[in-house]
Amino acid sequence: MTRMERDVVIVGAGACGLVAANRLKEAGVSVVVLEARDRVGGRLHTDASSGALLELGGQWISPDQTALSETVAQLGLETFARYREGESVYVGPDGAAKRFTGDIFPASATTESEIERMIAVLDGLTAEIDPDAPWEHPRARELDGITWRGFLEQLSDDEEARANVALFTAEAMLTKPSHSFSALQSLLMAASAGSFSNLVDADFILDRRVVGGLQQVPLRLAEALGDDVVLDSPVRRITWGDDGVTVEADGDLTVVARRVVLAVPPNLYDRIDYVPTLPLRRHVMHQHLSLGLVIKIHAVYDEPFWRADGLSGTAFSPYLPVHEAYDNSNHGDPRGILVGFASDTRADALLAMDPETRKAAVLDSLAHYYGERARTPAIYFESDWGSEEWTRGAYAASFDMGGLERFGADLRTPVGPIHWASSDLAGAGYQHVDGAIRMGRWVADRVLSALAPVPA
Ligand code: FDA
Repeated sequence: MTRMERDVVIVGAGACGLVAANRLKEAGVSVVVLEARDRVGGRLHTDASSGALLELGGQWISPDQTALSETVAQLGLETFARYREGESVYVGPDGAAKRFTGDIFPASATTESEIERMIAVLDGLTAEIDPDAPWEHPRARELDGITWRGFLEQLSDDEEARANVALFTAEAMLTKPSHSFSALQSLLMAASAGSFSNLVDADFILDRRVVGGLQQVPLRLAEALGDDVVLDSPVRRITWGDDGVTVEADGDLTVVARRVVLAVPPNLYDRIDYVPTLPLRRHVMHQHLSLGLVIKIHAVYDEPFWRADGLSGTAFSPYLPVHEAYDNSNHGDPRGILVGFASDTRADALLAMDPETRKAAVLDSLAHYYGERARTPAIYFESDWGSEEWTRGAYAASFDMGGLERFGADLRTPVGPIHWASSDLAGAGYQHVDGAIRMGRWVADRVLSALAPVPA
């Protein structure tokens, strides 16, 4: 049995937990980070085992994500821009692939102007939402009581316009069907990125990548902590009280500390036993939070053949199994890499297929966007985070209908010595690495205040 004593124990070596640990250590507080996996990074995983360097999890940085950009710069990492020269492709309800430039998908003139009108209305509403407290909006209860799909149905009679606008927060962000989450949850997603228009603008939201992969952020953060990061140590039980916590992990490891930070996705909170049990409201709240589902697919080719054809690699369709795809070629690698995403019920359907049938269905979508050459990649790789025991979905957690307005204000409130933090609880940068970093900084500051001696 190994027994450690620390001021603070952090559960989870993702970006959030590692930022919190570094900040606490810099302030002179002793820490240990317990990580369930055999690697750090959580939802950041850069992997070269297939023969090409692939970003299996988070990868893009947008200009508003200043906490992430600062961290990347401080760690001495370089970035490069996503390839975006040339035309994008849209496949509409008739199955025809159309080329376009700009942000608005090429539909009929009426549908295009309807999409623009809807985005302007959503930008107006988003500007009224505080991403740190969306439940405070005067219409919060109403907006949290109507599904995203229902809200768009009230906004427009144009079905194609609705399908396209829905995609930006449903398939592309929360990775849940638009009938399963609220309009308020959708507006929070937009507010956390600065505006609804920012989500529509792929050149903004998917702007830059880190040379060598984004997992270097958690890897370098962990390096600074040395032996204070312990891998292969899933936390199973937290005994808590006024004096602090006793945290028990696999491998007969026990840490006694004054505070614990749970830097894990909220859908995993209830995989830990709490002694005594958590307050009733916490138990109920946790059951209203869930992750979406997305399969991220990489296809690697000898060269980026679509570029010679005048295509940027950016492609969308609310009607194909792979609803969005991009040029994801690496810096300094002549090979062409496409990345595609299949979310929610499309992912259900694909995951029900045997692997070969699924691969054929995915490549069929890519061939629809980029032509027949897309059917024969040299390397094909699917990352399915729903099967990962220590994540169980993607990209991050959101509330079910009504949950954000009902429980949101209590989401980050500590329970005794137990603190909660992750990208899933962030305001700005919600569901993104930027949010994970912001929450890591935020929770470290809360813990420091809690540990500070009370003035006489
Ligand atoms: P994260 O989940 O990373 O870390 C939690 C850690 O806790 C994990 O390491 C886990 O193993 C560990 N853990 C869980 N339970 C435990 C237990 N009981 N005991 C010990 N350890 C435990 N973001 C972005 O900014 N740009 C992007 O392009 C994308 N794209 C994207 C694609 C895909 C496929 C995914 C899955 C995600 C993204 N994201 C993204 C989202 C981004 O990756 C995510 O929001 C952050 O990495 C989350 O960081 P956290 O530290 O909050 O949690």
